[in-house]
Amino acid sequence: MSALPQPRTVRTVSSIRELVGSCRSAHQTVALVPTMGNLHAGHLSLAQIAAEIADKVVLSIFVNPTQFGPDEDFAAYPRTFDEDWARVRDAGTVDAVFVPDVAEIYPFGADQAVRLTLPPLAQELCGATRPGHFDGVATVVCRLLNIVAPDLLVLGQKDYQQFILMQRMVADLRLPVSVISGPIQREADGLAMSSRNRYLTTAERQIAPALHAMLQYVRSALRSGASDYSQLQAEGARALAEAGFRPDYVEVRRLADLAKPTADDRPDELVILAAGWLGHARLIDNLLV
Ligand code: PAJ
Repeated sequence: MSALPQPRTVRTVSSIRELVGSCRSAHQTVALVPTMGNLHAGHLSLAQIAAEIADKVVLSIFVNPTQFGPDEDFAAYPRTFDEDWARVRDAGTVDAVFVPDVAEIYPFGADQAVRLTLPPLAQELCGATRPGHFDGVATVVCRLLNIVAPDLLVLGQKDYQQFILMQRMVADLRLPVSVISGPIQREADGLAMSSRNRYLTTAERQIAPALHAMLQYVRSALRSGASDYSQLQAEGARALAEAGFRPDYVEVRRLADLAKPTADDRPDELVILAAGWLGHARLIDNLLV
C-alpha cells in the first residue's frame, strides 16, 4: 500500500500561522475543522468535506476549558491523542493537526480570558441547562479563527445550535470565513456518533437509539401535517422518559435561525432538536424535517 502523506502536528500559534501563511503565498485555500479530539467517523466526515472544498485542511484538537460548566466533564473528557492522530493519518484528508495547549489559546489563563457573549439564543435549548457553554464555544472558535485564519470553517450538524450560533458570530463580527456544515454521522442503529457515547453502559447503549427513533416519529408527524408543536414536544419527551432517559428538551424550531415556528411554517423549514440524560451521558440529537 502506498504511504499516505503524514499530517503535520503543530502545537504553537506561531507555527500554525507560518504554515497557513505559506499556503496563502501558494494561493491555496485552507479549511479548519475544530474538534475536542477523541475522533470518530463524524469528525472525519467533516475533514473529508473540508478536503473536497479546500486545498489544505487543518484539524484542531483542543479540549476547551471555557465551554465546560463547573460540574461538567472537562477533567473526564476523553483525551486520546495517539489514536486520534492515527485515525487522521489513515483518513488521509488532513494536512495539519493543530494541538495547542491551554497557554497557546489562553495566554493570560482561561479564567482571565477575554470572552465573547452571544445573543440570547445561546441561553435556549442546550444553553438553558449549560449556562455559559456557547459563550465558551464562541470564545474558543473565534480564537481559533483568528489564529488559523482559514477560508472555510467546517462544523457538524450534530451540534446544530452550535452551528447556527457560530454562523451568527461570524456574520456579526464580520469574520472573513465561510461556514459550512456536514450531516450527522450515525451508528447502524441510528445513534448519533459522539465522544460522549463512551460514557454509556452496555444497557444504556441499547436504550440510546430511542432518541433518534423519537425524532423520526416527530418528523413523520410533522411531515403528515401536524402543527401542534407543544403537543408533539410533550409526546417526544414522554417517549424519551418511557425509554429510560431523563429528557432535557424536545423542541421543534426553524431550521434557519432556531426561532420558534408558527403553525404556518412549512415542515421542510423545521428542525427537531432533543437532549436528554442517559446515566452519566448527556446525549443530543436533531433531525431536519
Ligand atoms: P466536538 O464535540 O469534538 O465536535 C467537533 C465537530 O464535530 C463539531 O462541529 C461537531 O458538530 C462535529 N460532530 C460531532 N459528532 C458528529 C457526528 N456524529 N456527525 C457529524 N459531525 C459531528 O463541537 C465541539 O467539539 C466543540 O464545541 C468545538 C467546536 C471544537 C469548540 O471547542
